[in-house]
Amino acid sequence: MEHPKIAFIGAGNMAKAIIVGLIESGYPRENITATATGIDKLNLLHNEYEIAVTTDNSIAAMNSDIIVLAVKPPIIERVCNEIASSVGDKLIISVAAGQTCSSIRSYLSTEKLSNASIIRAMPNTPCLLSKGAVGLFATDSVSDSEHEFVTKLFSNIGKIFWLEIENHIDIVTAVSGSGPAFYFYMAEAMTNAAIQMGLDASISRELVNQTAFGAAAMLNEFDMETAAQLRKKVTSPKGTTEAAMNVFDDAGLMNIINDAVSAGATRAVELSKND
Ligand SMILES: NC(=O)c1ccc[n+]([C@@H]2O[C@H](COP(=O)([O-])OP(=O)(O)OC[C@H]3O[C@@H](n4cnc5c(N)ncnc54)[C@H](OP(=O)(O)O)[C@@H]3O)[C@@H](O)[C@H]2O)c1
Repeated sequence: MEHPKIAFIGAGNMAKAIIVGLIESGYPRENITATATGIDKLNLLHNEYEIAVTTDNSIAAMNSDIIVLAVKPPIIERVCNEIASSVGDKLIISVAAGQTCSSIRSYLSTEKLSNASIIRAMPNTPCLLSKGAVGLFATDSVSDSEHEFVTKLFSNIGKIFWLEIENHIDIVTAVSGSGPAFYFYMAEAMTNAAIQMGLDASISRELVNQTAFGAAAMLNEFDMETAAQLRKKVTSPKGTTEAAMNVFDDAGLMNIINDAVSAGATRAVELSKND
């Protein structure tokens, strides 16, 4: 089946990023359904993207070949219970941070033992522009053809990375799932600094955005060089960049970022358990 029917359980930021990426890549809209609790938001989604929408998770799951779990981690158990009887041996793709394949299987097994194949995916919001980074982990029951389909599906919206060890998804969550926000934070700080020093606000913003774009392109295109090597190349001894880098080093920014990524990975695990 080239374009199996896909149901997105949850239609928030992440589901939308994947759906938009799919549509942009030519996936037939009529084969995409999304669910949420709020009908008004669903109607907006239907009007904007011409996909099917429903507030009934169980019907969406029943009428699809593949089910993408895209609700917040603490809601996963509830929606799995709701769709359990419709899942059978369908492929389940969960984008939820923290929720393990074995937890998902146990939530789906409320009525009988679930035969579902489960894949965990950790995409990020640049999938909206088909420039995402997606970590993937498959359970042993995932067939070669399902593996191939998911590879193709996510390759439409970003660069994919299959992982051998399930809990490495928590690291991916912290690095690339949350990562866009780290770069936005840096852009926000640099823009504010330029404005505070007197540069026009819109010039500051565009300058910072274009610099981020250029730096990302260099990281991508000069991939024989590490980020550290590229950084050293623009850091002349006693120059302006070095003056700024010294401030970062004195503040221990490398350690701060290391702690931030660790905190994200720890939170990914906690999220499956509470709130
Ligand atoms: N955002 C990211 O950058 C990112 C990156 C990687 C992975 N993720 C993962 O993606 C998942 C979703 O995150 P998000 O940022 O997209 O969250 P979000 O924007 O808050 O979206 C959550 C969606 O779930 C719906 N929902 C809530 N309860 C539901 C229910 N019982 N049945 C069906 N739908 C329900 C919400 O609809 P209503 O508002 O109508 O209730 C909303 O559409 C999370 O598990 C997160 O870990 C997110």
